Amino acid sequence: MSIAQNTETTAKLRCISCGTTPDSAGRDFRCAACGDLLEFFFPEWTLDPLDGALRLRSGQAPSHHHTDPSALKSLWLSRRTSRDALDQSGVWRFRELLPHIPEEHAITLREGNTPLYHLPRCARATGVENLRAKHQGMNPTASFKDTGMTFAASSAHQGGFSWVACASTGNTSASMAAYAARGNMHSLVLIPDGKISWGKLSQALDYGALTCQLRTDFDGCVRILNELVRQKPVYLLNSVNPFRIEGQKTAAIELMEQLSWEPPDHIIVPGGNLGNSSAIGKALVEMLELKLISRLPKLSIIQAQGANPFYRCVHEFGGKKLEPMTADTLATAIRIGNPASWKKALRVLQATGGEVEQVTEVEIAIAKAEIGADGIGCEPASAVTLAGLKKLRGRGFVKAGESVVLILTGHLLKDPDFTIEFHRGDLFTGTPGEAEAAHSRSLQRAPVVLDANLGAVISALDAAERNS
Ligand code: F0G
Repeated sequence: MSIAQNTETTAKLRCISCGTTPDSAGRDFRCAACGDLLEFFFPEWTLDPLDGALRLRSGQAPSHHHTDPSALKSLWLSRRTSRDALDQSGVWRFRELLPHIPEEHAITLREGNTPLYHLPRCARATGVENLRAKHQGMNPTASFKDTGMTFAASSAHQGGFSWVACASTGNTSASMAAYAARGNMHSLVLIPDGKISWGKLSQALDYGALTCQLRTDFDGCVRILNELVRQKPVYLLNSVNPFRIEGQKTAAIELMEQLSWEPPDHIIVPGGNLGNSSAIGKALVEMLELKLISRLPKLSIIQAQGANPFYRCVHEFGGKKLEPMTADTLATAIRIGNPASWKKALRVLQATGGEVEQVTEVEIAIAKAEIGADGIGCEPASAVTLAGLKKLRGRGFVKAGESVVLILTGHLLKDPDFTIEFHRGDLFTGTPGEAEAAHSRSLQRAPVVLDANLGAVISALDAAERNS
């Protein structure tokens, strides 16, 4: 079995390295000629933007008033009041910019439609007044993965697969398991034993996945999965799958719509396997090409210092090579030492003029508590964005008067253990970060255990008021 392209669509597959344009992808989604990653491109767009790429539903011809950017913008806006499931999805609502998948295969949980929040306290802490967060943790399974998963799982359904599979640090597996269940497919999850949060693991179990905890790390899980798909007819749902990238593009499209198509100066994303940065960057470049926006924001990528192969690729090796490493960080979602999409991410950096930064474990924990104190919250991997912004401000790459959007990738409740340990002051006990963690005490809000009497509670309240 191979994954065929839909003949109706204007989208074509292309290898990012050798430029080969295969008619279909193998089960590993790698170029048969050189082994590198594949991506979708839309040949018509550069010649006659949108004509032919526009398709409201299969068989429905694009009408002339949908062929210019402002008509597209109104079409997408008008779908916000529709009762149609696909129109209600923040991914499928933008289907004109995606490869065509027939409606009968679409699996949707009404993903996307995530809020854009101002972060007033974080703005003060960073000196960037115009600071906002797009919270992708507000998706159905509480991470950004749903936007890519709705699309790629639908493509698996279209291909007639009964099994889908992924290697994951937790969020991909939670998302995949949900979409597979909705699409009546079986799912196989490979996760590193003991190195993912219980919240994420519990999701995969509840959605009915066959969950294998392998005695290795994420990169080891990827290696086994790649061998498995060569032997068994399972559909690979990691972000090497270009359908994932297409679905994840919509976060950037939706963001621009929320900003009335006025791009911010900077967008900042966490970097793990580097699929998300690649997807957001691809969307930005395509929106510029289609004249939906008039300039590109700078897209910057932040890694944890203990899982920084891409940071080193850019700063030590001038983007020439990526040296895999053994990754270690408490932000388990991005505990990745050999990111698959590093070449795609590098192109995005070059196209948008973004930067790569790395942040320490303590910087991540502090940033997470600060995002929490704004009444928003996120999981540790998402907080690298705020920690990275502080560094980019310090270097003068982001200026005080500029506008910044952080992409928060996962919900606060994904990893409650991290949060509780931080607030109890235990997170860094016995680790090299212990001394640095002293700076985070003022943010810690450990629960207070009291006798069950009013006087004790009033004393606690009075003490809190004096300290606030
Ligand atoms: N933030 C969160 C919450 C994540 O779960 C991930 C990746 C990232 C950021 C990094 O995104 O890999 O596209 O660069 N999680 C994957 C998973 C690897 O298996 O859930 P990326």
